[in-house]
Amino acid sequence: MDCSRSRPPILVLLLVFLLFVESSWSQQAMSPAPTTTLTPAPAPASPPESLCNGIFLSYVLELRERIHPFTSNPADQHYSFRATAIVLNHGTADLVTWTLLVPFRHRELLISVDGGVLANASNSVLPYNTTLDANVTAFSGYPNMDLKTPIEMTNDLSQIQTKISLVGTLFGSPSPTVPLLEFLDLDDPSYICAQLPDFNDSGSV
Ligand SMILES: *[C@@H]1O[C@H](CO)[C@@H](O)[C@H](O)[C@H]1NC(C)=O
Ligand SMILES: *[C@@H]1O[C@H](CO)[C@@H](O)[C@H](O)[C@H]1NC(C)=O
Ligand SMILES: *[C@@H]1O[C@H](CO)[C@@H](O)[C@H](O)[C@H]1NC(C)=O
Ligand SMILES: *[C@@H]1O[C@H](CO)[C@@H](O)[C@H](O)[C@H]1NC(C)=O
Repeated sequence: MDCSRSRPPILVLLLVFLLFVESSWSQQAMSPAPTTTLTPAPAPASPPESLCNGIFLSYVLELRERIHPFTSNPADQHYSFRATAIVLNHGTADLVTWTLLVPFRHRELLISVDGGVLANASNSVLPYNTTLDANVTAFSGYPNMDLKTPIEMTNDLSQIQTKISLVGTLFGSPSPTVPLLEFLDLDDPSYICAQLPDFNDSGSV
């Protein structure tokens, strides 16, 4: 029958098809789609960390990516960035209705704020132009406005810590400069914040 004669070509076609699928699949797996210049934030350039009477504050820049329009003046170049600010109660007293102060210095425009809210009630709409803030941009917790102590919550991070995830745009600071902050603070005079040069969390319980 004709059928038996047409079988080998079909098998060959099938094999070629499978090889093609596999090779294009592995090519995809090997070389991810060329995205734009994805620059992971130059890692441990000593991100600012502060300890304020048992409250640990940190700000980590996770990603910085040059975005269009590209400019010849490095100071005017836009970058998209992603960062996380952490407020962690390591102390013996509840931290009640806290406000974290972040001194942005690179004309940061915040597009998304997750895990907390902008505390400047007169200007809390996103995108948020941080240059409109006097000196610092203030964040507070939402819905968790207070942080319990590790003792009463037996170290349950969801009750003693807040992570604020930020996405936005900043200007300038071409590599290798890292657009870090100089300090972090709590807007509460009863907390005195001291910067930790190399905080190591694994020692504390
Ligand atoms: C942010 O505000 C400054 C003025 O403080 C203004 O010059 C700048 O264009 C604003 N940026 C954006 C993206 O709106
Ligand atoms: C809050 O934002 C307004 C502009 O909308 C600005 O005038 C004011 O200084 C900001 N407040 C603080 C505490 O930075
Ligand atoms: C902003 O910072 C300057 C210099 O550090 C200071 O003199 C001024 O009082 C600050 N303004 C506010 C509103 O905190
Ligand atoms: C933190 O300290 C512990 C114990 O001293 C050490 O084993 C660990 O390597 C340190 N981690 C970092 C990131 O320095």
